[in-house]
Amino acid sequence: MTFSDNAYQAFVAFEKSAWVEMSTHYDSIAGQMTRQAVSPILDAVGIRVGLTMLDVATGPGYVAAAAAGRGAKPVGVDFSPEMIAGARRMFPDLELEQGDAENLRYRDASFDAAACAFGMLHFPRPGKALAEMRRVVRPGGKVVYTIWSTPTKDHLFGTIREIVLKHADLSLATVPSGPGAFMLSDPLVSTALMDAAGLTEIDVEEVPCYFDVRTPQDILGFLNHCSPRVLPVFRAQTEETRGHIEQALVNEGTKVMAVAGSRLPCPILLVSGVVP
Ligand SMILES: C[S@@+](CC[C@H](N)C(=O)[O-])C[C@H]1O[C@@H](n2cnc3c(N)ncnc32)[C@H](O)[C@@H]1O
Repeated sequence: MTFSDNAYQAFVAFEKSAWVEMSTHYDSIAGQMTRQAVSPILDAVGIRVGLTMLDVATGPGYVAAAAAGRGAKPVGVDFSPEMIAGARRMFPDLELEQGDAENLRYRDASFDAAACAFGMLHFPRPGKALAEMRRVVRPGGKVVYTIWSTPTKDHLFGTIREIVLKHADLSLATVPSGPGAFMLSDPLVSTALMDAAGLTEIDVEEVPCYFDVRTPQDILGFLNHCSPRVLPVFRAQTEETRGHIEQALVNEGTKVMAVAGSRLPCPILLVSGVVP
């Protein structure tokens, strides 16, 4: 996909301002889900004592912190100063830097592995970010990313999207165009992207993940604090429509809580490859 300069800048500005806002509640709301990807990612990169690893779009630093806990030498990079500040508060000993996934400052082949947990769906040019991860990893090293499964399998995002789309007048919202949030959720698209980046031994695996619904407001809370693409659509609606959406999401939370387990499946796609 190619972007005009203006569209590219608009998408980057949109994502940057979203991650200022999302940084406040990310750990308490989205963290419970994205942390479930940490162990599968570390297994996929072949974590070991001394492994040097880049955690791209590190956010609160979950992957990098767990890697350090297993004796590896991680560096976490994220373009949001607010997310980096949050990661520093939680993990003061981690090596963390501000930087753009599509323009990494590191030398070629300077890491044993690179991982990116749930960042690829936020980059304007995910192929460029993947090529950068491949470039900084030495031959034989692993490049791994995770993204969410399609909304048909992902009951959290699926429910939010379905309810918002049912009530919203889309003409009221302006969301800058960019790659679809679920574009890479098609295993064939992810495989093609890895292949185009020159990675070999490509593997795409589905890993279970769940969103625990502890109060009827939790799904609405996820929309309000952790849904950068859908939130502007919701906010652009009339007060009456927003009320309908809020009520429908609270009803959905109540329904989920009535069922044993009180959680929504939101499976993860774990995509991995080897630098030849
Ligand atoms: C969904 S969060 C994932 C955070 C963390 N990896 C996790 O698993 O919880 C996406 C992260 O991508 C970061 N991000 C978005 N675009 C970026 C870019 N172009 N370069 C670096 N980081 C970016 C955001 O600041 C945010 O911290």
